[in-house]
Amino acid sequence: MAKLHIRPDVVKGHINPEIQGHFSEHLGRCIYEGLYVGENSPIPNTNGMRNDVVEALKEIHIPVLRWPGGCFADEYHWKDGIGPKENRKKMINTHWGGVVEDNSFGTHEFMELCRQLGCKTYINGNVGSGTVQEMSEWVEYMTFDGVSPMADLRAKNGHEKPWKVDYFGVGNENWGCGGNMLPEQYGMMYRRYQTYVRNYNNAAPVAKIACGSNVDDYEWTEKVLETTNRRMPKEAHGAMDGLSLHYYTHPGGWENKGSATDFTETEWYETMKRTYYMEELVTRHGAIMDKYDPEKKVGMIVDEWGCWFDVEPGTNPGFLYQQNTMRDALVAGINLNIFNKHCDRVKMANIAQMVNVLQSVILTDGERMIKTPTWFVFYLYQAHQDAELLDSTLETAMVGPEGHQAPNMTESVSMGKDGKMHITLTNESVSEDYPIDVILDSGKAAAVEGMILTGEMHEHNTFDNPEQVKCTSFDDVKLADDGLKLTLPKCSVLHLTVTVK
Ligand code: AHR
Repeated sequence: MAKLHIRPDVVKGHINPEIQGHFSEHLGRCIYEGLYVGENSPIPNTNGMRNDVVEALKEIHIPVLRWPGGCFADEYHWKDGIGPKENRKKMINTHWGGVVEDNSFGTHEFMELCRQLGCKTYINGNVGSGTVQEMSEWVEYMTFDGVSPMADLRAKNGHEKPWKVDYFGVGNENWGCGGNMLPEQYGMMYRRYQTYVRNYNNAAPVAKIACGSNVDDYEWTEKVLETTNRRMPKEAHGAMDGLSLHYYTHPGGWENKGSATDFTETEWYETMKRTYYMEELVTRHGAIMDKYDPEKKVGMIVDEWGCWFDVEPGTNPGFLYQQNTMRDALVAGINLNIFNKHCDRVKMANIAQMVNVLQSVILTDGERMIKTPTWFVFYLYQAHQDAELLDSTLETAMVGPEGHQAPNMTESVSMGKDGKMHITLTNESVSEDYPIDVILDSGKAAAVEGMILTGEMHEHNTFDNPEQVKCTSFDDVKLADDGLKLTLPKCSVLHLTVTVK
């Protein structure tokens, strides 16, 4: 019997809703077809955005959306995507599939999508192939309220009032596709570019995100922070509000990522092991950030994470389209638990990517749409948004064949805005159910409700069988004198809502 100890009186931090953020790139069928079909499409839409997809995303309360990339961001020239659509430049999307990008989805369309979703905006600027002036003017175009060349241009293009840009990324993966820079070089570029990312409205400041490391490149984190903090007042924190981190989970490594749906038990456990590596990455990059920012004013922004498998057979290799099984659900549940437990440092995370690419929550095929197992995990976890993280410890063991082992369970616990305690648990074992004693150090569990996502490890939804995997209510939990008693089924993600008296 494993024990889960919870101290309801000990608040460890605030869980930013942005931890459940998303990412949309001009990549494959994410923007075009997945989110945006244009006003004249036979697919029901509002101002070009698919109604079915927007509705499904609203159900999981998307807190923030990152756009336009990814690698696309450092080749994107925002002025190509404004003004009358028939005049917008066409270009080749060299990174992703070599297809024609007609720029019909640009700044105005992104802001309209976020308005419909009711989410915050995270724009990623171009450092790799763009100028300081171009970046500066984009910020002016979006946020300046008054008379200026860019504000006038925005009004001419039909939007009199400025928008709110909540987050602005100064480049993406500048160690790679964003310019192949050295950390000191990027640190210098960051200092210069960010200077002109102006805050035109002090009541609605733009939070600046610097490009952080790829996986375990601790030298990048150290040197970027060293460079950006040099000869800066301490309280400026390197002139940044956030530093990103990218880490994808692929069971066979970069060269041989493996199939999204056809995998062995060993590959299952290897995936769990590799995804759990996020815990170490957050801890170690966090320790470097602590040296420069002990007060934790700069957020760690894990703005690309999730499973990256081989593309579905027969699809464009540059479109990165993959299916999504119960394995993805576990990966999502584990990572969201890790982010919650590090919420003192992790302030945002954006799963890649929202629709039709990598670990998506939605897949579309023409006018059809399905919710993936990952969508259901976000559905289960949404009660953690804006909640207070509570102190909790779960007794775990390692599971899986020698060399491919991962912790058998993960958890996080919060006190929600609804005044209830929310417990999320994952069971990584494909063969064992685990009985758990939940022990509350104070208070008493007066009522409990559960929702679970569980199934055989390969199970997934298809356009012909869209509800193979879905949440159901969970009854195998009982109130006890000191807390709760439950059995966590194999291969599952569980959310318990507990009334504590
Ligand atoms: O998400 C796909 C790509 O992965 C992004 O464009 C890039 O930032 C990362 O390498």
